[in-house]
Amino acid sequence: MSADHTPVLCREAIGYLAATGAGGNFVDATFGRGGHCRALLERLGLGARLLALDRDQEAFKVAQALAEQDARLLPRHGRFGDISAILPDVGMTQVQGALMDLGLSSAQLDDPQRGFSFRAEGPLDMRMDTCRGATAGAWLNQASAAEIAKVIRDYGEERYAGRISRAICTARPLSNTRQLADLVTASQPRPSRGKHGATRVFQAVRIFVNDELKELQAGLQGLFDALAVGGRLAVIAFHSLEDRIVKRFFRACSASPLVPRHVPLRADEGRAPARVVAGPVRPTAAEVEANVRARSAVLRVLERIA
Ligand SMILES: C[S@@+](CC[C@H](N)C(=O)[O-])C[C@H]1O[C@@H](n2cnc3c(N)ncnc32)[C@H](O)[C@@H]1O
Repeated sequence: MSADHTPVLCREAIGYLAATGAGGNFVDATFGRGGHCRALLERLGLGARLLALDRDQEAFKVAQALAEQDARLLPRHGRFGDISAILPDVGMTQVQGALMDLGLSSAQLDDPQRGFSFRAEGPLDMRMDTCRGATAGAWLNQASAAEIAKVIRDYGEERYAGRISRAICTARPLSNTRQLADLVTASQPRPSRGKHGATRVFQAVRIFVNDELKELQAGLQGLFDALAVGGRLAVIAFHSLEDRIVKRFFRACSASPLVPRHVPLRADEGRAPARVVAGPVRPTAAEVEANVRARSAVLRVLERIA
């Protein structure tokens, strides 16, 4: 465990991956502060190699420091949506196990300068990779009300998307997270129950700025394509939009291909390429009590069988 981030569903996720064997190539596609990565290294043999990928430069620096202590670790700065190009670059053709622990690390969320949190005042940045792409502020200050409303509705499932987007356009230019959070809560006719009123809007803008759902689709496909037979892909999602994509992808990979009844098949044809090994696995009450950020986590595990 790192002081900056407590890994979620760690014992469960690492247990499923380590069960495939202690050797071969593994991928931690979302290194963060390396909590899952360290736990996996403890279970792997000396001959194993573990790619530690993250699109965040700070995370990459932590991975580089860990690689100085453990030669099995290969740190890379990049996006898991590009995994099909990254794997050959590090000399991996097939992988035995891969983990995607989606979303943000506590280190990212808790740093006001990153702009992810509505609880602290900071610049409206929200980029996981601060070297590329437009910041949340740059986008919010020039997009049309209709574009903003669509993002807030589609990625935040926020019912007052129209009102909020109009309020944003009227108040522009926005310069900080506090301003955005206050505008959102002032546009909602009733205070929301449970979560802070700005939760959904911050989630939506962050998903848009980082193109997270397209990344997820590309990452799932790239990692699945690289799995060896018997290899496993474990994914931890934190909200329903992510989990729906994971569930559908796993279902499609584990469904037998539709072949007309009269078509003759070889023994290996007509079989699904994968089976779902686990999921939805949720954290125990004790884990949620110890780490409230675990409360919405869902783990699913897929195994390649052909
Ligand atoms: C929940 S944290 C991972 C925490 C990590 N498992 C640990 O125990 O410290 C998610 C991490 O994934 C990274 N990330 C999110 N989307 C990514 C992507 N498309 N490609 C690479 N890294 C990504 C984020 O920058 C963040 O560091």
